[in-house]
Amino acid sequence: MTSFIVSADFPAARPRRNRRDEFSRRLVRENVLTTADLIYPVFVIEGQGVREPVPSMPGVVRYSPDTLLAVAEECVALGIPVMALFPVIDPALKTPDGIEAANPDGLIPRVVAELKRRFPELGVLTDIALDPYTSHGQDGVIDADGYVLNEPTVEILTRQALVQAAAGVDIVAPSDMMDGRIGVIRQALEARQHIYTRIMAYSAKYASAFYGPFRDAVGSATNLGKSNKFTYQMDPGNRNEALREVAADLREGADMVMVKPGMPYLDVLREVKNAFGVPTYAYQVSGEYAMLKAAAANGWLDHDKVMMESLLAFKRAGGDGILTYFAIEAAKLLKEQA
Ligand code: PBG
Repeated sequence: MTSFIVSADFPAARPRRNRRDEFSRRLVRENVLTTADLIYPVFVIEGQGVREPVPSMPGVVRYSPDTLLAVAEECVALGIPVMALFPVIDPALKTPDGIEAANPDGLIPRVVAELKRRFPELGVLTDIALDPYTSHGQDGVIDADGYVLNEPTVEILTRQALVQAAAGVDIVAPSDMMDGRIGVIRQALEARQHIYTRIMAYSAKYASAFYGPFRDAVGSATNLGKSNKFTYQMDPGNRNEALREVAADLREGADMVMVKPGMPYLDVLREVKNAFGVPTYAYQVSGEYAMLKAAAANGWLDHDKVMMESLLAFKRAGGDGILTYFAIEAAKLLKEQA
């Protein structure tokens, strides 16, 4: 058989050389995932001894403050640096203005204080937004037409942040997308000597259908009904706008910024990292988790392999860390492989 390869110096390069053996694949690997990259989001509900599965998020449960302690202990043991708290609020406490969010004796401040007392070395992050607390499921205060009002919402969000800071939270993460809220929260924190409370801004947060299972988990889906968050969360078609949002949040005092959702928005993550070079995080949201879990449960994808590949992709795209419901499972796997 005659060869089709006619050039004497074919091939010009052999990129496969470095890929030939595991030692050299490891040697040339550009990005790695470590446990220090993981932030574990958890759902907290009032009660005792509660471990309530979230059907659309296999493996995710709602914990009461007491059962959550074991999870925090596991995070510490595995070396996961931060746990992110999301409340499931009693429907009887939900109001149009969501003012329960600013209750110093509310569920989240109590859990924060207890976690910081028991596990001072574990970072605790709280979400700043009103949707778990409002009777209509929007992230802020609405007018007669259902439009979310910016300034009145910022006032309540700031009270929420101050209450959590007073409870000892390490990082507040405004996920509401109101204009100007980072600056107001930063100034209010500084004025009250909460000078070490970090702000991780959900800067580029898109109006995404991938949040579906989360809204089931916190019980805001039924409140929200058929309405949407298009007047404050970003349009999925926009890229330049994400950079303007990040620039504004940094100017106003954010310590870290976030892109959300994760996998469908890796292009935005990379651009944000390139443009600003600041600590940049991605949220692999509930729908992304649900989709991988569902495919794995059907035997269509290899669970552990797609989990690790998806998380590594965030690092390659420029992420300094990932909020992911896979955090515990990934940390266990990383420990086994070490
Ligand atoms: C609340 C909030 C949401 C998520 C995080 N904080 C839902 C939303 O904006 O509707 C989504 C997280 C996920 O889907 O895992 N503002």
